[in-house]
Amino acid sequence: MADIRIHDKRFTPFITATEIEQRVRALAALINTDYAGKNPLLIGILNGSFIFAADLFRGLTIEAEISFIKLASYKGTSSSGHVVTAIGLEEELHGRHVIIVEDIIDTGKTLHSFLPGLQQRQPASVKIAAFLSKPGALQYDVRADYVAFEIANKFVVGYGLDYDGHGRNYPDLYRLKDADF
Ligand code: IMP
Ligand code: MG
Repeated sequence: MADIRIHDKRFTPFITATEIEQRVRALAALINTDYAGKNPLLIGILNGSFIFAADLFRGLTIEAEISFIKLASYKGTSSSGHVVTAIGLEEELHGRHVIIVEDIIDTGKTLHSFLPGLQQRQPASVKIAAFLSKPGALQYDVRADYVAFEIANKFVVGYGLDYDGHGRNYPDLYRLKDADF
């Protein structure tokens, strides 16, 4: 496979579509076992998770539902300063088994800000499925329960992940070339 270029940056092949498919299928199999009879509600965080969420959901053979939300961040005036609101979450969450579906947990800030608001809606349980996690970048106490790949702290694109809006459509995952750091 060849390198790709997006805007000013070069990216090099990292994880193939075949490897991705195998891992996502394995995660779906785990969820099939863990959530049989529980009718989990998957909540995909847009935009980055849409391809992972679609593949993961197609791997489910149990009764399950899916919905998508966008998160909006506001910089407040208080010292804590960071509030995350969900746009488009209309489902009743009370008593539901929720699985958050994220493209990547990087610093963990997004989910760390979002989870308390979710808990207020009294779901029966909340777990996190992340396509990727970068343990080396983590700054908040957020841990994914289902992770397809743990990767080094390097910027990646493809399979839904973007660089400045581009690159989401590549079926394989690419990482930024070292020379571009
Ligand atoms: P966090 O709040 O720091 O965990 O950041 C999570 C969000 O940052 C993800 O949902 C992505 O949209 C974005 N992000 C973090 N790392 C990457 C990357 O390597 N490539 C593309 N997007 C990334
Ligand atoms: Mg994202």
